[in-house]
Amino acid sequence: MSKEIRLGVNIDHIAFIKKSRGVSYPSLIEAVKICESAKADLITIHLREDRRHIQDKDVIEIRNNAKTLNLEMAHTTEMIDIAIKTRPNFCCIVPEKRNEVTTEEGLNLSSIEKNDLRRLKNTISKFNDHEIKTSLFINPDKKQIELAKQVGAQLVELHTGFYANSITPDERADALNKLEEASIFACENDLLVNAGHGLNYDNVKPICKIININELNIGHSIVARSVFVGLKDAIRQMISIMRSCD
Ligand code: PXP
Repeated sequence: MSKEIRLGVNIDHIAFIKKSRGVSYPSLIEAVKICESAKADLITIHLREDRRHIQDKDVIEIRNNAKTLNLEMAHTTEMIDIAIKTRPNFCCIVPEKRNEVTTEEGLNLSSIEKNDLRRLKNTISKFNDHEIKTSLFINPDKKQIELAKQVGAQLVELHTGFYANSITPDERADALNKLEEASIFACENDLLVNAGHGLNYDNVKPICKIININELNIGHSIVARSVFVGLKDAIRQMISIMRSCD
């Protein structure tokens, strides 16, 4: 990969197939092994409060089998306890709305009460003590980046959903520009810059060209393609595009 952008494969949608029938297949452990053999850099899962795909038991099993785990979670006491017990390598804190189909927005740190910002700072510090690095999922916006830095996050994950869902060329260029500016600003603030949401085989290249991008977290498009070509090839194809982005 020219810039060695890391790929985190989000396997929530594999868990969703298992959960939809209440059966034990497809095995998430097998999924982890295939992701790693296809050279994914890490496994990403989101333990949602409504447990719609990943279950508590899955988190433990995946933790015990994945070389590097990124746990996406809402900032709740329950999730903080689970993270500290299971010790993922990374926690990505995301906002969660009960009725959303998938995470819709980044955290809006500027609208959070001072007390809640303090709470977030405490959580990040607690995670540091347990060797868990914290990423905050935010919209590509300077104010959000400043606040992420203030509360002690080591990483930010820039929300690429606005880019992925843009309809006109102008909207797309504008969204890309915001991501580029945010990536530069975050890097100037010594934050590692991840990105994700809605990325697929057709739209990932311009994101890979953004300077400073450390890692992409991609789930739905990879799992969807795996239906036809298998998980290993679906990941290999994504990595191949990421590596040819010059
Ligand atoms: N990053 C974050 C923070 C997410 O919430 C999600 C969706 O779970 C993703 C990345 C992956 O998005 P997608 O499934 O659209 O690739």
